[in-house]
Amino acid sequence: MKKTDLKNLLNDMSLEEKIMQLVQIPGYELEQDAAVTGLSDKASSDRVKKLAGSTLGVWGAEKAIALQKRHMKNHPHHIPLLLMLDVIHGHKTVFPCPLGQGATFDPEVARKGAEIQAKEAASEGVHVTFSPMADLSRDARWGRVLESTGEDKFLNGKMISAMVEGYQGKSLKDKEHVASCIKHFAAYGGAEAGRDYTNVELSEHTLREQYLPAYEEGIKAGARLVMTSFNTLNGIPSSGNKYLMRDILRKDMKFKGVLISDWAAIAEMVSWGFAEDMKEASRLAMEAGVDIDMCTACYSGNLKALVKEGKVSEKLLDEAVMRVLELKNDLGLFEDPFRGASVEKSLEVCLCDEHRKVARDAVRKSLVLLENKDNALPLSSKKVAFIGPYADEKKIHSSWAISGNPDTNVTIKEAAEELFGKSDVKVKFAKGCNMLLDKTDLGYGVAKEKDKDNKALIEEAVKAAKWADEVVLCLGEEIGQSGESTSRVDIRIPVPQKELFDAVSAIKNKKIVTLIFNGRPLVLDDIPEKSSALLICWRPGTEGGHGILDVLSGAYSPSGKLSMSFPYAVGQEPLHYDHYNTGRPKPLEGASIFSSRYLDCPNEARYPFGYGLTYSKFEVSGIKLSKKKLSKDAAVAKGVKKASEADHIKASVTVKNIGDVTATETLQLYIRDISGSRVRPVKELKGFEKVTLASGKSAKVTFTIDEPMLRFFTINNKFESEPGRFTAFIGTDSETDNSAEFELV
Ligand code: GLC
Repeated sequence: MKKTDLKNLLNDMSLEEKIMQLVQIPGYELEQDAAVTGLSDKASSDRVKKLAGSTLGVWGAEKAIALQKRHMKNHPHHIPLLLMLDVIHGHKTVFPCPLGQGATFDPEVARKGAEIQAKEAASEGVHVTFSPMADLSRDARWGRVLESTGEDKFLNGKMISAMVEGYQGKSLKDKEHVASCIKHFAAYGGAEAGRDYTNVELSEHTLREQYLPAYEEGIKAGARLVMTSFNTLNGIPSSGNKYLMRDILRKDMKFKGVLISDWAAIAEMVSWGFAEDMKEASRLAMEAGVDIDMCTACYSGNLKALVKEGKVSEKLLDEAVMRVLELKNDLGLFEDPFRGASVEKSLEVCLCDEHRKVARDAVRKSLVLLENKDNALPLSSKKVAFIGPYADEKKIHSSWAISGNPDTNVTIKEAAEELFGKSDVKVKFAKGCNMLLDKTDLGYGVAKEKDKDNKALIEEAVKAAKWADEVVLCLGEEIGQSGESTSRVDIRIPVPQKELFDAVSAIKNKKIVTLIFNGRPLVLDDIPEKSSALLICWRPGTEGGHGILDVLSGAYSPSGKLSMSFPYAVGQEPLHYDHYNTGRPKPLEGASIFSSRYLDCPNEARYPFGYGLTYSKFEVSGIKLSKKKLSKDAAVAKGVKKASEADHIKASVTVKNIGDVTATETLQLYIRDISGSRVRPVKELKGFEKVTLASGKSAKVTFTIDEPMLRFFTINNKFESEPGRFTAFIGTDSETDNSAEFELV
């Protein structure tokens, strides 16, 4: 539809009809078995259902087409409904959870995955996905770190923009793509005490420098929607935060798309104590620029009166409605309200071999090898026992893979039987223990009386372990232990599984490969010491079993790098590599009295951000800099069009594969600003590059350092660089000390 026709449509609509375009109702009010991803205290009236602008949680071509037909027939202007869904790491073909995708350090994995997710979801009638989540995640107590790509703003920015490109493609008119929604704006990951839905206290410079960049990368990539976050930012709920939404999102970030609240977040301003009642909450949200009210009666029940009383201008209302109509129009819904939905198409694309192949590759690249003593991996014996609750568990996706079907997941057992079935390798499987101490206890829980089932299960497992030459222990969080509203103060593996680990690891001279299925960094206690190899599998999704066996068998050398730091103890959280040095940094050795330290725990991560082993070994040379001085002026000289013309330094290393097998290493460039008008992190990731080398081969890896890379939110409250000394680091994880100095003059 032409813009003028949209305007005419808007002008033809009554006040009530306009308001209802801003109302999103739960899909379960319209359809059976729609996803329920929030709580609603009041069902929508028939009037609201008739006039609503959008719904969420519905998918399935036949259902979506029938729903759209019914809705448009009943609507006075036959305006199509927007169908939205959380397709955050898979629709039918489920990819590794975003934290695992971050661990690939490969934006192309994220882009291709999002492209496939969009294609599958669009074929089942979905128009908008509530993804990617761009929340900076530094606190492993917060269960939603699962949905982020990790603790680093630079890596997140690359992954988020790649996902937006994958979901949206070149044009939303392309029916194999969907509109993408950046969430949760903003700084939800800074939730106090790692607990969901709480307050976030951030200084302006930490907000701007650390928490906002990844959202902005997603918006620059063209995301058509943004979702408000549940948290307050410095005491103001995001859905009523004019500064955040109008000044930062709309003005600074130039976001022109649709701003949707999170589920009930507008109404929740009342319980926050920010709005007297739902009417005031509606006014505050409209003023902040929230276009769509997700699943409450705020807008539908109060906007009419607010406009009539002159408390909300009709102009403001019209702007919001126009953004929603433009989104529908850009999706081509006025021309084809069923868009990409088709049973034939969904049968053709969902879970097709090509999609499974791409997902399997994503699994392989997401796995992070933390220990591999004496090359325990790849597996090499003729008798292997797979033991643990994840040895034959279908639920290896995440709780957010709401439209996926666990039955289509490939388990460890299925993949192992497939791989070894045709070989002379004998395999045995044993559950070994219950997943959890007690189904209702999704927390760590304290072992009540010894769980008798467990005893028998453990005995059977120990027998299998004694029979085997190699044991693969398959352990981890239960699927409900990470995701929304799953904060935990004890982030260890469940009690029964540690009992199993202790029993099996007590067997003398047994090679034990431990797999961990997790949606967050975990405290691993003595598991690393007692394992011959330790592989982090995240929530791998549909092709989990295949991807993991590809690595265990040596068909693929692991190349994943931690997207979040793993702590020694939960008391270290929030934990992130890009911390400040403090005035009394703890000395690396010797007495540490009067320094910034814990008496009972190291400061450092157990396994740092960016860390991960391969099946080979790499040597990285010292850094060579093309020069030692970078001129700030030349860099910003008038008329300098391309970064390559601007002044820059080339920082190079030679990396050599000194091991026996071909493998892929991820070279990471970090920079430290030695002093600034505000203190600066000890390191900040500024680039990464993957290099695949055969045994004995070398390659030169070069990074470009330029002035924009050195900008930060200075004491002048703007992003600019400051002349002075800098250190560049190039290594294979965030603890590298391979460095060279340079100056910005
Ligand atoms: C949930 C989540 C959000 C999701 C939305 C719709 O509460 O916070 O991430 O997109 O509701 O399901």
